[in-house]
Formats: sequence, C-alpha cells, structure tokens
Amino acid sequence: MKIWLLVFLPWWAWAQPADELDAKLLQHYQQLQQDETAREAAIRKGRERAVLCAYCHGKDGNGGKGDIPILAGQNPLYLVHQLERFASGQRKRFVMEKLAQNLDHEEKIHLSLYYASIAQKPAAFDAEKARAGQALFASHCTVCHGERGMGQKGFARIAGQKPEYVKNTLLNFRKDGEKRFSPEMQAITKTLSEQELEQIAHYVASLGQP
Ligand code: HEC
Ligand code: HEC
Repeated sequence: MKIWLLVFLPWWAWAQPADELDAKLLQHYQQLQQDETAREAAIRKGRERAVLCAYCHGKDGNGGKGDIPILAGQNPLYLVHQLERFASGQRKRFVMEKLAQNLDHEEKIHLSLYYASIAQKPAAFDAEKARAGQALFASHCTVCHGERGMGQKGFARIAGQKPEYVKNTLLNFRKDGEKRFSPEMQAITKTLSEQELEQIAHYVASLGQP
C-alpha cells in the first residue's frame, strides 16, 4: 500500500535536496537542461575531466571489472546525487569519496552530463538466472525503476548494469546500510534471499539488450 502511494509523488519529492548546496546543484542542472549550447559545452568539459575516471570506469564509462558500475547512459541527476553522496561520506568507497571531494559542483554536473550522453554497452549475464529473476523483478522493482529498469529522473537506470555490481549493491543495501543507505532499497531487499537477489541481478543485466 505504502509503495503505491509513493508512486504518485512527483519525482522531486524523492530527490528532495538534503541541504541548500544540493538545491543549488539541482537548479543549475535544470538550467542546463533547457539550454542546448550550454549543455554541449558542459558535456565537453566533462569529457576532459573524465580522464581521471577512465582508469576504472573505462574510456567510455562502460568498462572496468565486475564491481565497477557502468556510468554510460545513466540518468544524469542520479549521477550528480551519487557524487554528492560520496563527497559527503554518506555513500562509502574510499577512492570515490576522495575523488568526489576534489570535484566542485560544476565539475560534478559536467561529468554527469558527459556520462549520460554516451551509449551504454550492456553487460554479459547468465540467461538461466535471468529467467528465474524475471517475475521477482516485476513484483518488486518496477514501481520505482520502471518496467524495463530504465529509471527516471533521480532514480537509477539499472537496465544493462553489471550483474556482479547489482548483486553486491543489493546485498550492501540489505546488510546494514553502512556502505550505502536507502530506506526504500533496504526495505525491499530485506524480503529477498541472496539467491533471489542474484537472479534479479542477472535479469536486470538482461534488460540492457535491445
Ligand atoms: C580506482 C577506481 C575508480 C576511479 C578512478 C573512479 N571510480 Fe567511480 N567508482 C568506482 C567503484 C569501485 C564504484 C562502486 C562503488 C560502490 O558502490 O561500492 C564507483 C562508483 C561510481 C559512481 C556511482 C555509480 C552508480 O551507479 O551508483 C559514480 C557516479 C562514479 N563512480 C563516478 C566516477 C567519476 C566521475 C570518476 C572520475 C572523477 C570516477 N568515478 C573514478 C571506482 C572508481
Ligand atoms: C520504493 C522504490 C524502490 C524500489 C521498489 C526499488 N528501488 Fe532500487 N533504488 C531506489 C532508490 C531511491 C535508489 C537510490 C539509492 C541511493 O541513492 O543510494 C535505488 C538504487 C538502486 C540500485 C543502485 C543503482 C546503482 O547504479 O548503484 C540498484 C542496483 C537498485 N536500486 C536495484 C533495485 C532492484 C533490483 C529492485 C527490486 C528488487 C529495486 N531496486 C526496487 C528505489 C527503489
């Protein structure tokens, strides 16, 4: 019941800025959405800044080992918010916290727009596990991440994401919220077993296929 109510809230009620700084970031981001020339310039600056990130995330934001998320094609507002969370220490991962602390708001916006503008190369997955995860995904995940896992506004696109990363992330949300806390994700993952989370993760990855 509660979940259904939440669906009808405007997206920004979810992404409610935690503080004034976050509100400024959101405002700036929205301005760029309306100004094509400024957006293109921002993407170009993001590409230049992303040299730092390529070592782990790949040159086009699609690369890296299994525990490194694909950034290409992600919703830019989600990316901006996650960089904010790393910088404030709300989301934990040593390297990302340090890197994000060294980015100013402009740079975070530029990087997010840049990665969002690249086409995603969907990750490999296990077809049998994906099949087993389909019904669980439909009943547990679509309400926020969408029918095909494409997300919306501040919600993460999960379609095509690496299954190892998705599974680890789901386990982290479920465990104690120490690495990453989200009341919504904690509530959902607590109702699922590790095996079910793995199956869902492979189904999520399979959604990246055209
Ligand atoms: C040393 C490796 C490394 C480098 C360099 C690196 N990242 Fe990351 N990044 C990671 C890992 C690992 C994660 C996953 C963290 C987790 O959830 O535990 C991550 C997560 C992220 C996320 C969250 C994505 C999501 O789906 O939630 C964003 C955004 C991000 N990185 C952006 C960047 C940017 C921008 C740079 C360059 C300024 C960068 N990263 C450089 C390793 C790296
Ligand atoms: C009630 C809404 C809601 C539901 C239902 C939900 N999620 Fe989420 N999900 C969120 C929110 C909010 C976040 C962002 C949390 C944050 O900012 O750290 C998130 C983040 C995630 C992430 C992290 C994305 C990334 O790139 O790091 C994954 C993976 C994810 N969800 C998968 C799922 C799966 C799989 C299900 C179903 C089992 C699910 N979610 C159900 C709201 C929801």
